This record gives sequence, structure tokens and C-alpha cells, in this order.
Amino acid sequence: MNTSITSITPFLKWAGGKRWLLRSHKMAFDLNGIERYVEPFVGSAAVFFSLQPKRALLNDANAELIETYKAIKSDWKSVLDLLRKHQRSHSDDYYYQVRDSAPTAQATRAARFIYLNRTCFNGLYRVNRRGEFNVPRGTKNSVLLDSDDFELISRKLSKVTLQSGDFERVVDQCGSGDFIYADPPYTVKHNNNGFIKYNEKLFSWSDQERLKDALIRASDRGARVLVSNADHPSIQELYADATCAIVKRHSVMASESERRKLTTELLISIGR
Ligand SMILES: C[S@@+](CC[C@H](N)C(=O)[O-])C[C@H]1O[C@@H](n2cnc3c(N)ncnc32)[C@H](O)[C@@H]1O
Repeated sequence: MNTSITSITPFLKWAGGKRWLLRSHKMAFDLNGIERYVEPFVGSAAVFFSLQPKRALLNDANAELIETYKAIKSDWKSVLDLLRKHQRSHSDDYYYQVRDSAPTAQATRAARFIYLNRTCFNGLYRVNRRGEFNVPRGTKNSVLLDSDDFELISRKLSKVTLQSGDFERVVDQCGSGDFIYADPPYTVKHNNNGFIKYNEKLFSWSDQERLKDALIRASDRGARVLVSNADHPSIQELYADATCAIVKRHSVMASESERRKLTTELLISIGR
């Protein structure tokens, strides 16, 4: 697969987004000899948009997120037209009106998702017990961005399979010829305190164990496997038989004063 291409800026702001990782560690994502690229936790698709593999399977437990990619893939013009409408109407009242709405058409739902992501507090995604998005309005007012190129994104998604659901179903489909990049929520042992809560359900420590077991099975079937995770003793212990590299990053979702703080994460290769 050709990897010398211009990176596309992700169009969503997403907790744990990995754009920064590709700037310094692109070599770890060598897709030579790979037939299909697989991301079970795709989020803002920062890695996919940087690598732009021709064949891919992208999955996330967040159904609205996957539906947004599907809408851009099949009808990016309608999504863009609706975003233009949101931009013209944007105000405090309008934000809460859109937040409280529950449209049924796919393009309308996608435009709502992108609008809320761009104008809500800190680009957070948080839902209540009923699965309703409940983040208040933030300080950003730009609904359309200079970096937006939904036509290009639609083209890049044209040969991509998009699925929504739990990671295990996806990882269990993988084997020889697949490259899996797994970037789960960063739960660590004894720390299931509700902060790492992307969806209605918390990603628990037993999910971390379930993920590792599924990735080992996929590696045994011949898949190449790369994992991002927290630089924490419990994760190092969980992946004790794999190759763990420590990577540095600037904290991104932290407050302004903490923005330049350096933290570390793990980049784990299984079975290589
Ligand atoms: C760290 S984020 C991925 C960020 C992504 N690499 C990026 O660059 O934006 C983790 C993702 O896992 C998803 N997720 C949480 N639990 C999941 C599960 N059981 N199966 C699949 N995806 C899940 C969340 O919705 C979130 O998008």
C-alpha cells in the first residue's frame, strides 16, 4: 500500500485523537504487504486519514459517529449544505434547539453531530443515561472550517467498510493480510472511576483483558497488531509478552495552562 500521501485533517475533535502520533511514529504503521487496514476504535479516524489505505474496516461503539462517516461517504453534499445552514443560524438558543432535536434522515443526523462537536464545550462527547447528548455550548462558533474537504473524505471512504459495535466482533474477523490498530479508551486497573466514559457504558478493566485476548487470537491467525494504551504498570503487565515502546505526547484535552505538559503513552506491537 502507498503511504506517501498528504494527511487529511480529521473533521471531528475527539478525546484521545491520534493525529500527534502519526507526526512522530509513522514508521510503526508500515502497511507494506498489508491487504486491509482495521481500526476497531476509530474515533476521529486521525490514523486512517493520515495513512489513507485503499481497503479498510473502521469500527466504533459510537453508532452516531459511524453513521456520520456513512452519511459523508454516500451524500457529502447534503451534509455540507446542512452545515452551512447551521453556520447561518448558530446562536445560544439554536445550539440547544439542535441539541434537543432527534432528526431521522441520515444527512441531517450527521450534520447535527458535526455541528454539536464543533460548537459544544471542548469538543466533548457525553451522553446521559438515555443516550442523549448533554454537553453544553462551548466558546467556538466556527461550524465550517478551512480544512473541510468532505468530497475528498467521501472518496477516501468509498472502499471502506464502516461498522458500529463492540471491538471483539471486528477483531475476531481479522487474520492474515490485516493490520489492526487498536486505540481503546485508556482504562487502567483499579481506576474505573467514570472519567473514561466515551459512551453510555464504561470501558472496564475486563474489556481491556478481553481486548488483549482478542488481539492475541488475531495475531495467531496472522494479523499484524499495533495497540495504543496508557503508560501505566497495569497495562505494561497486561502486555508483558508484547513489545512496548514509550511515546511522548503533549496533553490535548487539558486546560490551556496544562496544554504544553508532556505525558507518555505506550505503543505496543503484538507478535512481531
Ligand atoms: C481513544 S478513542 C479512539 C481515538 C482515535 N484513535 C482517534 O484518533 O480519534 C477510543 C474510542 O473507542 C470507542 N469505544 C469505546 N468502547 C468501545 C467498544 N467496546 N468497542 C468499540 N469501540 C469502543 C469510543 O467511542 C472512542 O471513539
